[in-house]
Amino acid sequence: NSNEMWGGRFASGPAAIMEEINASIGFDQKLYAQDIQGSLAHAAMLAKTGIIAAEDHDKIASGLNTILSDIENGKFTFSRKLEDIHMNVESRLAELIGASAGRLHTARSRNDQVAVDFRLWVKAEFEKTAVALKQLIAAFLKRAEEHAATLMPGFTHLQTAQPVTFGHHCMAYVEMFGRDLSRVKDAIERMDESPLGAAALAGTGFPIDRHMTAKALGFREPTRNSLDSVSDRDYALEFLSAAAITATHLSRLAEEIVIWSTPQFGFVRLSDSFSTGSSIMPQKKNPDAAELVRAKTGRITGSLVGLLTVMKGLPLTYSKDMQEDKEAVFDAAETLELAIAAMTGMVGDMTINTAAMKKAAGSGYSTATDLADWLVRELGLPFREAHHVTGRAVALAEQKKVDLGKLSLADLQEIHPGITDAVFGYLTVDKSVRSRKSFGGTAPEQVRRQIKFWQKRIGKL
Ligand code: ARG
Repeated sequence: NSNEMWGGRFASGPAAIMEEINASIGFDQKLYAQDIQGSLAHAAMLAKTGIIAAEDHDKIASGLNTILSDIENGKFTFSRKLEDIHMNVESRLAELIGASAGRLHTARSRNDQVAVDFRLWVKAEFEKTAVALKQLIAAFLKRAEEHAATLMPGFTHLQTAQPVTFGHHCMAYVEMFGRDLSRVKDAIERMDESPLGAAALAGTGFPIDRHMTAKALGFREPTRNSLDSVSDRDYALEFLSAAAITATHLSRLAEEIVIWSTPQFGFVRLSDSFSTGSSIMPQKKNPDAAELVRAKTGRITGSLVGLLTVMKGLPLTYSKDMQEDKEAVFDAAETLELAIAAMTGMVGDMTINTAAMKKAAGSGYSTATDLADWLVRELGLPFREAHHVTGRAVALAEQKKVDLGKLSLADLQEIHPGITDAVFGYLTVDKSVRSRKSFGGTAPEQVRRQIKFWQKRIGKL
């Protein structure tokens, strides 16, 4: 028994192993709605251009709609013998409407069919990702507003560097996820072309109207090269790249949450809904959701590397290798959606321990740069010399086990005779933060300015 779809020249059916390695229905059934949508648009165009008769089109359309509702109601049996979603649908259509079904595949190949199905799916997934990113950004904007002036240490090398505000830190993530959102928008713009009608690879001799099907499927226009149309998977690679970058951002955030929620840091407390306990240690509250977000980044990046590797040696145009594009994208999309949702939840309801943050903000000589800047501004020292003088002050404070602002004036004057009482006003964390009002700096007034910018911008994205 040879295949009923392409078995004309075959005397026997495939070996069991061949069927197993060849079949994609196990995963590409996810594309059923896009496959039927694409077929409906194609059939309507074939009728409009007079390539098939109106009666055939009517039968095809009603049969396809029956199949759609059967699949949605769990009344459809997928068969591995029929390889993939395309042939499962078409074969059922033949059962339902008879000979007219055989006219649907006129001027079309599974090569352009799968390309259009997958594009529709990826485009919709990009759009879902955009919505999810906007929700995450909104969660951060809310926390940033609440904490525009909440003091915390800023770090480099995870060592206390200079005091910043928690609102400023939140806004750093808004910038990152904002770039992710714009990457999604760019990618949608680029992929918004319909490959349907490229047929197997060379186009078709039938007088089809590709602009009509492109429009019916919500694409901006048809693709311009039939060879590229069936061999291009850039949109899938762009989805995975964008997903991998977003996942990397989520992972850095997850790492910070893991660190911040340790008893040693104590900057945040995760809500009960986003943490778990230990089966042996009753005191534990673990940041499992953050850890899993951090880990799932590996899967998403793995999918990107996997598909890049599948594509890298393929001659034009279609090769069956490309059937391996789907699982990578499906898994990454599902994983990313979950990770963004978990992060949005965590960010929204974690408790910020402002006292612990403020205390840490003042430790580790975090205002040393402010002392150096004061020496430059008030005494006219070159910055390099001011840096050196300040270094000696820090060493002395360390030796005396006090904060910089707790050194006596006499101590400071011994290091540099020009220093006056006025300097102490500049060594507090609060003053330090409020002074950094350069554009994009950490001063609360700047943070509020950037919050306003994003509140307006997000409505337009
Ligand atoms: N299941 C195939 C895929 O996912 C559909 C295209 C098959 N085309 C072909 N010429 N065998 O790529």
